[in-house]
Amino acid sequence: MILLSPNCADLARHFPAAQQIEIKHFPDAENYVRVPECTGSAFLVHRCYPQQDVSLVQLFLALGALRDAGAESATAVVPYLPYARQDKRVRSVEAISAQAVCRLLKAAGADALVTFDCHFLKKPGVFEYAGISINNLTMRDALASHLKSRVKNPMLISPDEGARYFVEGENGSAFQKTRGGYKERGAIYRAVSGMKMPFDVAGKDVLILDDIISTGGTMTKAIKACINGGASSVRCGATHGLFIGDTAAALKRAGAAEIVCSNTVASEFSGLSIAELLNGVLE
Ligand code: R5P
Repeated sequence: MILLSPNCADLARHFPAAQQIEIKHFPDAENYVRVPECTGSAFLVHRCYPQQDVSLVQLFLALGALRDAGAESATAVVPYLPYARQDKRVRSVEAISAQAVCRLLKAAGADALVTFDCHFLKKPGVFEYAGISINNLTMRDALASHLKSRVKNPMLISPDEGARYFVEGENGSAFQKTRGGYKERGAIYRAVSGMKMPFDVAGKDVLILDDIISTGGTMTKAIKACINGGASSVRCGATHGLFIGDTAAALKRAGAAEIVCSNTVASEFSGLSIAELLNGVLE
């Protein structure tokens, strides 16, 4: 049985047999969650961005309710997994948020997690992580084929080694990105400190693919380096487009002729749908 959260109503036409779960709020803003009667295997599709913390609590409540309703197994389908970017410690003793979230999903009642381009896995496939089975789907083929169809002389580039799997099968190359130490400007972050370009983009229509565009720091630096390197054009694509602040404008100012993302996160750039890939695994 496929269940859709209210924040996935846009996917309903792709899953005609899916049932809805109910999410409301009590007067103090705490979450109220109700699920349909359910037996067999339950797949619950719920976005956890924006409002990551609230959405995660909603997911935990829904998973528990599904198990109470009689679901024999429950799979959390979270298109963009929040807290996935800290899977190791840079300083002692930081919380390893990726691990904590996966443990909590398991404890809440999930046997498995389906997600897309999970930051810490860095490749598609099925993995065991923090006690839960994760099926990591990828939008890389959809992003690559969309962007390739727009240009004559494509060259695929990833902005760092972590995203190399986006361009591997396409004879692509990767920037060598380095990050500095922590900085604080309202939020804590680690800025990109360097982007080495061990490849030639002169005359190419460069297509830069990454898992996430968040503040756009990584993508902006990659775009500028390619323009300075003589690229004919630069387009960029990412599975998850968070576009914090004026990121989209910064990418365009840097020279991006096109920006495309999937709808794991809703934005004006989420032109590619995850529905087809999800349909293949939700059964
Ligand atoms: C980093 O390893 C990721 O693959 C992305 O490049 C990064 O998370 C993007 O973040 P931002 O847009 O803030 O540079």
